[in-house]
Amino acid sequence: MNVFKDYYNNTVQLSFLDHPFSKNPKHVWVICRYKDKWLLTDHKERGIEFPGGKVESGETADQAAVREVMEETGAMVKKLHYIGQYKVDGRYETVIKNVYFAEIEELIPQITYYETNGPVFLKKIPGNIKRKTDFSFIMKDAVLESCLLRIKKSYV
Ligand code: GTP
Repeated sequence: MNVFKDYYNNTVQLSFLDHPFSKNPKHVWVICRYKDKWLLTDHKERGIEFPGGKVESGETADQAAVREVMEETGAMVKKLHYIGQYKVDGRYETVIKNVYFAEIEELIPQITYYETNGPVFLKKIPGNIKRKTDFSFIMKDAVLESCLLRIKKSYV
């Protein structure tokens, strides 16, 4: 279990075990790869981040992951791999998120990308992301770094 503070000084617990905090988490986050690039989205308020969001009622977390990737980037998931789960103890609420790695099949241009400006491709995730104002806060804690390390070892 990794424990650290996020960008807003909230405590985050990250684990690579099988759903350690909740069997039915309400949030998902999906680290996407298309060909030889990372696929992210540009959230209108938060900035550049990997796609994700809330699990809707009647949906599994895996289904939410596939849907959110399509809504925010237009990408069709070819293969979804569960990576781990993290729990953020916020000031007002606790958020539990599944993290996935998604291999992308193809991109289909969308009429709307919902609360985002659509797909963003990056050859490399910048090392100094914490200081970059165009990146979202959810990219600015140790969740990203730890998950990328695991993904690079196993899949990329
Ligand atoms: P909406 O209802 O979609 O507007 O979401 P919200 O802004 O109420 O936030 P949400 O329920 O997704 O999360 C509540 C709080 O949890 C946020 O304000 C953050 O402080 C924190 N949080 C959510 N997701 C993450 C994340 O991926 N990483 C970190 N570090 N904190 C998160």
